[in-house]
Amino acid sequence: MAGVSPLPDKVQSEHEVSPKPILEIASGFLAAKHLFIANEVGLFDALTTHGPATLPALSDRLHLPARTLRIVTDAMVALGILVQTGGTYSHSPVSQAFLSGQGPGDLRPFLRFWNRLSYPNWLNYEQAIRGEPGTHKQKEWTEEEGRIFSEGVEAITAETAQALAMTYDFGKHQRVLDVGGGTGSFLVALLRQHPHLQPTLFEIPSVLAVAQNRLLTTPYHDKINLVAGDFFHDPLPDGHDAVLVANVIHLLSPDHNRQLLTKIRQAVPSKARLLLVDFWTDSTHTAPPFAALMAGEFLLVSREGDVYSVEEVKTWLEETQWQMVEHRPLSGASTLIVSETV
Ligand SMILES: C[S@@+](CC[C@H](N)C(=O)[O-])C[C@H]1O[C@@H](n2cnc3c(N)ncnc32)[C@H](O)[C@@H]1O
Repeated sequence: MAGVSPLPDKVQSEHEVSPKPILEIASGFLAAKHLFIANEVGLFDALTTHGPATLPALSDRLHLPARTLRIVTDAMVALGILVQTGGTYSHSPVSQAFLSGQGPGDLRPFLRFWNRLSYPNWLNYEQAIRGEPGTHKQKEWTEEEGRIFSEGVEAITAETAQALAMTYDFGKHQRVLDVGGGTGSFLVALLRQHPHLQPTLFEIPSVLAVAQNRLLTTPYHDKINLVAGDFFHDPLPDGHDAVLVANVIHLLSPDHNRQLLTKIRQAVPSKARLLLVDFWTDSTHTAPPFAALMAGEFLLVSREGDVYSVEEVKTWLEETQWQMVEHRPLSGASTLIVSETV
């Protein structure tokens, strides 16, 4: 929320140490909620479909009271997400690019996921941190909520999937297994760059159903082998010389991660590679800072999640007959750990 401070400048300058960081952090949820609700009520879509508009025109388009719509619309202007000129609201370059549905990325499904699922989950954060047993249990998601989760994850990991496809040398691989691969979006990104690959998506049945529908909208639906299962209770498909595990390790406890790495090791031939994409941290778990914040989200989503350091993963890999080959950047706080069978 850079530049948005609830403190007048005069008060700040009287203090040698400014309380500004605390006040800005504490007010962060206001900005997030304004953004979520602007998305929920269709503000960005209304500006995309019918172009720039005055408040009364937006109020007509969205069937919302002008008095309340003005509050969220002006907050978007204050935050630099929308622009207002002479009483007319329009997209800023950033909302045109990522919230109009017509730019290089679409973050609307991610905002919907965080508003409808994550935000209510964070109301239980205190109980989760206090370790109160059972009090922060995630309720079962409906089919609709499951779809919102999977589409939201796909939206927020799109750049990472693209970076993986562009930077890792898949030329040496033939068969790629994506374990917990969500909607199949990583495999689609890989196929775009490396059409020779023969990919398999392994997912729990409810998510595989979402993936099947999503893949029908791509040219790759008949190129991806879909296998339903639970990686703790069902056999993993074998014979793959590369296995991708993206944004799954952070949902699991250290013990469960060792189990998963062992199971994958037993399903691959020698010389196979394991590609672990996640928010890997330094040894202090405080950098990158976004990863440190996401640890709370992972704890709440699965009740056992966390962020892990490169050193921790390297140890688990060694314990499960893998050897770490390299650690390289992908996109933002997401990085790649590559390992190979011992
Ligand atoms: C955060 S999502 C990541 C999806 C995708 N890999 C990505 O990065 O966009 C984690 C995925 O792991 C899957 N998953 C979790 N536990 C699983 C299990 N026991 N067996 C199979 N898949 C599982 C979930 O269904 C979910 O789609």
